[in-house]
Amino acid sequence: DLSPIDTAKFVAAKRAVEFVEDGMRVGLGTGSTAAWMVRCLGELVREDGLRIKGVPTSTRTAELARKVGIEVISLDEAKWLDLTIDGADEFDPDLNLIKGGGGAHLMEKIVATASDRMIVITDASKKVETLGNFPLPIEVIPFGWQTTKALVEETLAGLDVLGQTTTLRLNGEAPFLSDEGNYIVDLHLERIANPRQLSLVLNQIPGVVENGLFIDICDVVVIGHGDGRVEVND
Ligand code: A5P
Repeated sequence: DLSPIDTAKFVAAKRAVEFVEDGMRVGLGTGSTAAWMVRCLGELVREDGLRIKGVPTSTRTAELARKVGIEVISLDEAKWLDLTIDGADEFDPDLNLIKGGGGAHLMEKIVATASDRMIVITDASKKVETLGNFPLPIEVIPFGWQTTKALVEETLAGLDVLGQTTTLRLNGEAPFLSDEGNYIVDLHLERIANPRQLSLVLNQIPGVVENGLFIDICDVVVIGHGDGRVEVND
């Protein structure tokens, strides 16, 4: 009795955990789709005796992982991971992504980059021809954030991107804080013609810690549908 959207997320998660093998060190993503994956993995640990070590990409995911019985270790303990499974906010035909809708893209990118393989789990609504309709998050240091935001706007003005509104992400009246204590500025771009270039240029700006573009990081996208069908793209 799951809704179609939850069915889609659940079947994608269920299919993706088939890639996890005994003894693996696994990066655990953040968001509602990744939460299904963490619960599926927990079930395999508790009921099938699967032995894995999980590296969570947020405090939220760490809490859930421990609750469902997954052994949690830090990335520094793991050093390198066999596999990361995470959600995404958008993916394009080259499997490039926008992430960070949940504000966790910094840790997500560090963890995914430290993995032999990254699998994204998603419903079909996140598939796009060109990235950018979903606001692109950048994590910025609180010190001088308004100056950093202005520099970002100036940089965007010089690039081939439509729409150049930037907004500080809020949590009620106060700035939203990432797990690392930083702010998130969302870039409303509509269409990102050259995501690789934009990602490089944004990360050059002092005060920008990391942007939500994942270029050449994702290897497989598992797409769940509301009727229970699953597609695997790689
Ligand atoms: C978290 O920071 C994001 O990168 C998530 O992966 C993304 O927002 C997907 O979340 P849902 O699975 O809830 O859509």
